[in-house]
Amino acid sequence: MLGACLGVNPVADAAGADHSAERLSAGDRVCVGCHAADGLTRKLANGDSLSLTVDGAAFAGSVHGPMGCIGCHPQVALPAHPGDVPNIDDARQYAMARSESCRACHGRVFRPYEGSVHALRLRAGSAAGPACGDCHPPHAVTPRSTQEGPTNACVRCHGDTAAQHERWLPNAARHLRAVACSACHAPDALRRVDLRVLAGGERLTDRDGSVPFEQHARAADTNHDGLDANEFRRLLTSLEREGNPVALQGYIELRSGIEAHELPPKAAAIKDCVKCHDEKALPFQNVTVSGVDADGRPIRYDVHREVLSSPITWDALRGFYAIGGTRMKLLDVLLALGLVGGITVPALHLALRRLSRRAPNPDGSTR
Ligand code: HEC
Ligand code: HEC
Ligand code: HEC
Ligand code: HEC
Ligand code: HEC
Ligand code: HEC
Ligand code: HEC
Repeated sequence: MLGACLGVNPVADAAGADHSAERLSAGDRVCVGCHAADGLTRKLANGDSLSLTVDGAAFAGSVHGPMGCIGCHPQVALPAHPGDVPNIDDARQYAMARSESCRACHGRVFRPYEGSVHALRLRAGSAAGPACGDCHPPHAVTPRSTQEGPTNACVRCHGDTAAQHERWLPNAARHLRAVACSACHAPDALRRVDLRVLAGGERLTDRDGSVPFEQHARAADTNHDGLDANEFRRLLTSLEREGNPVALQGYIELRSGIEAHELPPKAAAIKDCVKCHDEKALPFQNVTVSGVDADGRPIRYDVHREVLSSPITWDALRGFYAIGGTRMKLLDVLLALGLVGGITVPALHLALRRLSRRAPNPDGSTR
């Protein structure tokens, strides 16, 4: 998924809705009347220039469209503006100062963010750490940009993350595709396994005229207590009946997007294999299956955890290292070769032995 995400420009997808500029309020149209112009820039005190161009259509299609420009720029008042624009020393300071405008509505995000390694570095005087606008495009926040944008941003600043993690994590690239950065870098937060339904390699998206994902899931969930293995199979079948063949991608993520801002220094990140590769591992206690709505917002439905070790998901997940998965041997080999250092090896081996007793019977049952 990560690879596919890298090509996504969160601004472009909102801008794709061509007529959305018409949804701007009359007041915002005045702002955009000047600020849509290409090449509108301001010279800064440090000699750099700051582009003042804002894409009105992308803004109108964003979650912040309804609140208008003034929602984050209360200091701007016509007609004195732009004559009264104060001195701006450098673009970095400006972006950090403007982040403060998010606080009025997203105060809950600031608490974890301010304890993060990034905010610590900013406070210590390094300007290189991300402000809100570095991970979320301030004029084009959409559910889709919130899902995909931050990981793209991490990778833009942090370069070759696969190589950095490969030093201690076997098959790091594969882990990075299946585990959100924050799922290891916000170690105290609650995690879950999300089984993402893919169609044609992309997340299954509700389309006009088709039955929405949630309705399929509800219909499959006959006793309304989340999907058990049979109901899960029924869901996959009913999705396939509607169009493309579907596949599943297992993904470990946080349950709360707010906690994704915690990011303590790297020493606190999850390194212990057993935190995931154990039957009782916490993320595996909470399992969902998901598609996305037309805006890219995830639609999740609860799944019984034993679906992870049922033959349906072995087949459909094709190698997701789930409980009772088929790749335990490889992990054993790596451990035996000593390729994995600094971890609680005996505990892991015990866990694996316990797990391998639950390998599937020839008839496909798990016990
Ligand atoms: C008449 C054209 C015009 C209109 C209308 C206009 N702006 Fe501007 N705006 C400018 C120019 C020019 C600058 C740069 C001023 C400078 O370099 O001194 C600017 C600068 C800005 C800045 C950066 C400086 C700062 O104060 O943070 C923001 C933000 C901004 N405008 C927002 C808005 C908003 C919001 C509206 C609508 C309420 C708006 N503008 C309406 C021309 C305009
Ligand atoms: C959700 C909050 C938010 C809203 C709403 C918003 N802005 Fe901004 N704006 C920001 C932030 C944050 C920055 C600082 C730039 C950054 O972080 O990259 C900024 C920067 C700017 C700048 C300076 C140039 C730049 O991109 O840095 C202009 C001009 C501007 N905004 C105009 C507008 C106009 C016009 C609207 C309405 C169409 C608008 N803004 C709506 C948050 C917002
Ligand atoms: C005036 C209030 C207000 C301000 C200021 C504001 N937002 Fe928002 N923001 C909202 C609302 C309302 C939503 C939509 C909540 C929802 O749909 O559940 C939202 C949603 C979001 C989302 C989640 C989008 C999604 O659906 O996944 C992000 C990310 C976000 N805002 C970032 C920012 C950033 C960054 C700033 C500052 C540059 C900012 N917001 C400033 C009101 C605000
Ligand atoms: C280092 C990157 C990064 C920075 C900096 C950042 N965010 Fe986020 N933000 C994320 C990630 C990752 C998510 C979770 C996306 C998901 O749900 O998978 C997120 C989610 C959000 C959400 C949605 C939360 C929810 O309820 O799901 C809001 C609102 C938000 N951020 C606002 C902000 C604000 C305001 C700031 C500045 C104080 C900020 N973010 C700074 C990465 C960042
Ligand atoms: C705008 C650039 C930028 C973005 C975007 C960004 N970071 Fe960072 N990050 C930094 C800088 C700068 C540091 C401090 C590096 C240092 O001091 O050596 C840092 C430090 C870190 C550290 C701590 C490393 C240590 O030595 O303890 C972690 C972990 C981290 N970032 C993870 C993330 C994640 C996860 C994301 C995406 C959600 C992200 N970063 C997005 C610039 C960024
Ligand atoms: C499986 C858990 C896991 C995942 C997933 C993960 N990390 Fe890490 N990361 C760690 C651990 C543990 C360390 C500290 C390693 C060490 O001891 O040096 C680390 C170190 C880092 C560092 C510091 C690198 C250095 O060498 O100083 C950065 C930056 C970072 N991670 C960013 C990210 C980003 C960005 C992502 C997502 C693309 C990510 N991580 C995904 C566990 C993870
Ligand atoms: C945050 C959870 C998490 C942690 C921590 C973690 N893993 Fe994984 N691991 C996964 C997931 C999820 C997959 C499945 C990847 C996929 O579906 O492709 C996986 C896959 C694997 C695979 C199979 C890769 C393949 O090619 O089939 C091995 C081997 C492995 N992990 C070893 C380790 C070792 C050794 C550690 C500790 C150094 C570790 N993992 C730490 C979640 C984790």
